[in-house]
Amino acid sequence: MNVPLSNGLKVLDLFCCQGGASMGYHFAGFEVVGVDLSHQIRYPFRFVQSDALDFVREHGPEFDFIHASPPCQRYTLAQRIQKRDHPDLIAPTRAALEATGRPWVIENVEEAAGELRNPVTLCAATFGMHTYRHRLFETGGGLTLAPPQHQPHTAPLTKMGRPRAQGHFAHYVGNFSGVQDARNDMRVPWMNRDGIRECIPPAYTEYIGSALYASLLEVAA
Ligand SMILES: C[S@@+](CC[C@H](N)C(=O)[O-])C[C@H]1O[C@@H](n2cnc3c(N)ncnc32)[C@H](O)[C@@H]1O
Repeated sequence: MNVPLSNGLKVLDLFCCQGGASMGYHFAGFEVVGVDLSHQIRYPFRFVQSDALDFVREHGPEFDFIHASPPCQRYTLAQRIQKRDHPDLIAPTRAALEATGRPWVIENVEEAAGELRNPVTLCAATFGMHTYRHRLFETGGGLTLAPPQHQPHTAPLTKMGRPRAQGHFAHYVGNFSGVQDARNDMRVPWMNRDGIRECIPPAYTEYIGSALYASLLEVAA
């Protein structure tokens, strides 16, 4: 992997898991620190095991930008059917981010759209992957984001549990098969199935990181 040119700025990645979001910011030239409640042995950058909200309240202002991916279980259809109770972390995360005075983004799944303010949707097909994986991004602290043109979903989908067929798209969810194919497709070669299922493809945050850097340069000019 080529080492990207550093832009001298630091990103805090809250709820980092195995580091899909972090890797995109790294590709965009940022130094990254990840925070997760669970120990993440596959996380490829500096890692702090902590509650994300405690950490951002104490250290948030030390960073140039903050990314947060609060766990989405509360909002997924399967969880709502099973009526499981998960705490809402989006509102307290937003409050903690706003208090830092730094630019920030909160990422989540489409089912959480009602909890997010004017989110922008990113789709993996736009970035050349063979999956769709829509994710929503709410920005704040002065950062705004223009979404790339969304391509229509026209590719046939391989059935769950089978490896992706030639020319097909796949959903890398649940107990999907074809882990190596998913690694190659989403550019996450260090992840296992658990990380892939949860992650944002690094291309999304490389896009956001580049937009952020351009907007910071504009402010500085
Ligand atoms: C959806 S995953 C994040 C995926 C990540 N953005 C990526 O691109 O790879 C959510 C993560 O939040 C972590 N988590 C849950 N509650 C937390 C808390 N209170 N503080 C820190 N991390 C937490 C989980 O351990 C899990 O790894």
